[in-house]
Amino acid sequence: MAVAPETRTLPWAWYTDPAVLRLERDRVFRRAWQYAGRTDQVAETGAFFTCDLGGIPIVVVRDREGDLRAFLNVCRHRGSLVCEGEGRRETLQCPYHAWTYDLDGSLRAAPRADREPGFDRDALGLVPAAVETWGPFVFVNPDADAPPLAETLGDLPQLVADAGLDVDSLRFLRRSSSEYDANWKVCVENYLECYHCQVAHPSFSKVVDVSKDAYVLQESRWFSSQYGPVKERWSGAFDPTGEIARGQFHFVWPNLTINVMPGHANLSLGPVVPTGPERTARFLDYFVGPDVDETWIEEMLAFDDQVGVEDTALVERVQKGMRAGVVPHGHLLLEAERLIAHFQSLLVDALS
Ligand code: FES
Ligand SMILES: [Fe+2]
Repeated sequence: MAVAPETRTLPWAWYTDPAVLRLERDRVFRRAWQYAGRTDQVAETGAFFTCDLGGIPIVVVRDREGDLRAFLNVCRHRGSLVCEGEGRRETLQCPYHAWTYDLDGSLRAAPRADREPGFDRDALGLVPAAVETWGPFVFVNPDADAPPLAETLGDLPQLVADAGLDVDSLRFLRRSSSEYDANWKVCVENYLECYHCQVAHPSFSKVVDVSKDAYVLQESRWFSSQYGPVKERWSGAFDPTGEIARGQFHFVWPNLTINVMPGHANLSLGPVVPTGPERTARFLDYFVGPDVDETWIEEMLAFDDQVGVEDTALVERVQKGMRAGVVPHGHLLLEAERLIAHFQSLLVDALS
């Protein structure tokens, strides 16, 4: 894809303005496929989990026919969230006035509604969302009429398979959650370049070759990829040698990061979720191959956590500079930061 010859970043006011965040919720998060959780969380009938898709509350549930369903997690009565957290239920009952929805979303019972002439129970089911899976990963699009997930993922599943990873054989390890005093786009843009790696991630840069000739950046229509080979003379506490020769760091529009570290079968993924104009929540679900050594896993996780700590400081520092409101925008390097340019052009398209 051609890179726009624009070196200007988005206006920095877009990183603090609540009106921009509302627009992003309506024009980006309301109509995009987003990572929601895992199939193991909804393996049995009645098993459900909730999630926040950029400000849009969603509940995912396994219905009685064994189908996966997703709904806006908003009660049709007076707007309470219907479900919280995760668990297993016979029905989805709202805790406010006990309107009770079946696992297929239909309204089964509403106390005292039989005394209301004209109460149209059939019209008051939970609003459906679209749900699909890729291996063990559950994706939801709040727009029930969205085009299929495959259109967004493109050949990404193939690229991951080509790296030697069979996503269906992965075992879930843990979820780690974090929050940032930064706009969600600062977090995404920080993920989309490794221009800062040499400077800001010393331990990562001793293991992964982040030099401009070795570290590969590739844009596709709805996702972009970074490939970092292991350094010829790597050093550190984490052994990156194994079946997976290169680190892969994919970003799927609008907010999903997928990481594969070099070494043994591993993958982590999770969304970058705005919780306020200057506040972001993230989680990463970590998976490993069935036979990966526990010590190696611990070392890889420690290595990854260190990068995370460094990135937190970076993004919060950026937010402070932007928030001051004294400089209107920044400048991108169109080679080293071309994945940011790609992201920013998708965002401008979505908002306009
Ligand atoms: S808001 Fe859900 S039952 Fe009243
Ligand atoms: Fe980083």
